Amino acid sequence: MAAVIIDGKAVSESIREKLKVRVSALGEKGIVPCLAVILVGDDPASLSYVTAKERALSLAGMESRDYRLPKDTTEAALLSLIDELNNHERVHGILVQLPLPKHIDQQKIICAVVPTKDVDGFHPVSVGSMVLGRSGFLPCTPMGVITLLREYRIAVSGSHTVIVGRSNIVGKPLANLLIRQDANATVTICHTSTKDLSHHTLEADILIAAAGKPSLIRPEMVKEGAAVIDVGVNRVGDPSAKNGYRLCGDVDPAVSQKAGYITPVPGGVGPMTIAMLLQNVVEAAENRYNG
Ligand code: GUN
Repeated sequence: MAAVIIDGKAVSESIREKLKVRVSALGEKGIVPCLAVILVGDDPASLSYVTAKERALSLAGMESRDYRLPKDTTEAALLSLIDELNNHERVHGILVQLPLPKHIDQQKIICAVVPTKDVDGFHPVSVGSMVLGRSGFLPCTPMGVITLLREYRIAVSGSHTVIVGRSNIVGKPLANLLIRQDANATVTICHTSTKDLSHHTLEADILIAAAGKPSLIRPEMVKEGAAVIDVGVNRVGDPSAKNGYRLCGDVDPAVSQKAGYITPVPGGVGPMTIAMLLQNVVEAAENRYNG
């Protein structure tokens, strides 16, 4: 039987609608939640992500301050901008789009953002707080995945959840969030050195693909009825497409004939990442107001 398609776009829209109420409550106090968005260089995928984030902020009645910096921007110049934004009264959140050009030390930049404005949840203090279950910003894509599972009432507690990918942005934080006592999954993390990937994926009640490899997960690797969450956003060349490429996930579309639930690409996890980012920005603004 064909899988239930998890509609991330619809879930994200309903979250964004609810956020408008919090944004207007802040507005009554004279506060407009504001995110500084920094993009270094001209990577087309990164540019399209930051444009989508800025558009969503504006639609939700929030402000974005856009910093488009040339690809030869020095690490010192970027650190100086972050320092200025850390101290800026009206800026509640700071997002530095990753990846950064190779001459800039990414970890150094992530560490420079003050944790109270770290709406990406990438700072070591945010990561530590997440692991310990203390308050702090949670990373957007992992929270988007968890919110989708919750919205579709997919049983996470007691499930065997297999994550393919161990990135700092998705795989590692997602595993941590899923083993917390409010989620209670049993988690396996697979990566490029995992032997016999199918052996693990076939065991998954919930399979999360976050490896950045087009169509890595094929139908024969998935247990009948499993919930399959595709975090991959890959651009593959397609001469018949308007811009010469199409977006493709880490999961072969034929998996939908075997899975119980599946997220589409686009329209699955992607819009949820943005909704979670907006939520973190609103929270950052509320935190500032409430001291
Ligand atoms: N690059 C890919 N995903 C993300 C994200 O969630 N935040 C930032 N800052 N950069 C990214």
